[in-house]
Parts: sequence; structure tokens; C-alpha cells
Amino acid sequence: MSTVSDALEALTDLQPDRARVTADILYGLSQRPRQLPSKYFYDARGSALFEQITRQPEYYPTRTELQLLEQCAAEIADVVGPRLHVVELGSGSGRKTERLLHALADPVAYTPIEISRAALLASIARLAQALPAIEMLPVCADFTQPVDLPAPQRPAARRLLFFPGSTLGNFAEADAVALLQAMRQTMGADGMALIGIDLHKDPALIEAAYNDAAGVTAAFTLNLLARLNREIGSDFDLDAFQHRARYSVPRLRIETELVSTRPQRVHVAGRQVDFTEGEAMIVEYSHKYTEASFAALVASAGLRVTAQWHASAPAFALCLLQPA
Ligand code: AVJ
Repeated sequence: MSTVSDALEALTDLQPDRARVTADILYGLSQRPRQLPSKYFYDARGSALFEQITRQPEYYPTRTELQLLEQCAAEIADVVGPRLHVVELGSGSGRKTERLLHALADPVAYTPIEISRAALLASIARLAQALPAIEMLPVCADFTQPVDLPAPQRPAARRLLFFPGSTLGNFAEADAVALLQAMRQTMGADGMALIGIDLHKDPALIEAAYNDAAGVTAAFTLNLLARLNREIGSDFDLDAFQHRARYSVPRLRIETELVSTRPQRVHVAGRQVDFTEGEAMIVEYSHKYTEASFAALVASAGLRVTAQWHASAPAFALCLLQPA
């Protein structure tokens, strides 16, 4: 029996500090094209805007994956077995986790790793109440950095890394391989990972999902600049940058950019950063996959797909990975 206050007491706090954020941003701004890491979308407002995106009619991935999870949960539970320590990368609201945890046989512990402390605390408060038999061991951290996982009180049969939402798609290929390799280490020889991936489909459908008519995605993208202005004291003019998201068919990815609408100078941590009119900063990739491209990607990290569940129209997959 574990309560909300037990969960909060167990919190490991490794949230990136101001110096870390500043260093990452200055590095990204020094690149050509300039590039800002998408993980910094997720402050309290960014996480709330993302939840709103998942409810837009054009944004199909979340509802497709939730439905797929609902349909396959019992089968997944059979394949992964009982008494798991479930570790989730980028847990957000924890809506998907709740369905998974309910379906699993006697799960021992749940470790959400989430960069947004606000989102993490809200999800833990809810999950601890909904699932009091599971030990909650939350970690506030950037999951791309090494994290010593908290040990459950009751021994677990194995670790299951849960990585839904096609969040893997936010990583450039080399970074995705490095992350999958780190996951292989973390899961251990008898561990597993359950990954949600968005599949290549009609580019018009994909582009619509990242350009919703209500403008929530545009607000989400621009919130990155508001967050940086507040947290690291930069002076980005939110009225002088525009959201743009286009699907590259050869690269199988959405490329989201913030485009400078005029020549301008921005100050960031004592540096001057000049933008030309029309200059684009890359703020996010959302890679899509084919069955073959995903199998090749995981193979290069020493993993293989041992089971998979597919949704069609719109196409989306949950894949179970194990060390090759
Ligand atoms: C965090 C991977 C679920 O890339 O589709 C949604 C983030 N960005 N709309 C994605 C996002 C713009 C999202 N994931």
C-alpha cells in the first residue's frame, strides 16, 4: 500500500537547472541551422499545451495509441509477465500508463521519468490514488541523461521500459540509436521495452496533425521562447517568430521550425544572436517509421522486435523490444 505522500517523499529530483538549460541553448544557437532541443518544450505550460494538442481532431497519434493499448493490453500483459518494475520515459500525464498498469499482473513498482516537475507531480498524485498497490518511485529528470533508478522494496521479476507516444521520433537518428543503447543497458539482459511508434502515412494527414486549425501546436512551439525568456533571461520577441511544420518524405519526419519574420537581434545569456528575415530554427523532429526502418534502427542498438501490435488508418504500432 503506497500513498500520494509516500510517492512524493520518494521523488528523485534531477530536473535540469538554469546553467544546464543555458548551455544547451547556446550550443544549439551556435549550430547552422540553429536548433533548440525539443525537450525544453515541457515546462508546466508546455506540458498543458501538449495535453491540449492530444485532444485536437487533427492530432491522431495519442488517441490511436490509447485505443490500441486498450485493445491489446491483456495480450501485452501475457507476453511481458508478472511482477514488473515499469519505468516510463517522458511520462507526461500518465494517461497511457494507467491503462497498462491496470492490465499487468501484480506490477511491483512504477518509475515515471519526466522533465516537467509540474506534469510529474500531477500524474503521480492521480496514479498513486488509482493504483495504491504499486510502489511509486518518480524521477524528475531529462531521460537522455543517465539516471540511477530507485530500487523497489519488493523484488521485481524484470524491468519493462515503457516509451509510448512515438517520443523516440523526436530524436535525430544517431541520438535515437544512443538512447536505445542506453535503454538496453537499463533494461538488463532479461528486460524489455514497449515502444509506441507512429508509422509513415499520407503526408497530408501527418502535416495536419502538426498544424492544427485551432493553433494549439503553434502556441506550444512558441511557448519554448516564452519559457527561455523567463528562465534564462533571453529576449526572444514572440511576435517575430512563426511556427512552421513540414513533412519531409525522404527523411520520413516532421521538421518543426520557428521562422524569424524579420531581421532581428536576440540577447541570450550575454550573447547577441542575429537572425535574418526568413531564417528558420529547428525546434523538433517527429520521425515516422516503416516496419523495416524501425527494425533496422533497433538492430543497430543491439535490440530486436519480439512482438508488435498494429493499428491501421491511422497507422501506429506498439513494439516490444528485447536484447538481440
Ligand atoms: C512528444 C512525440 C508525442 O512529436 O508527435 C506534438 C510532440 N510536437 N505536436 C510528437 C508534439 C508537436 C509529440 N510527442
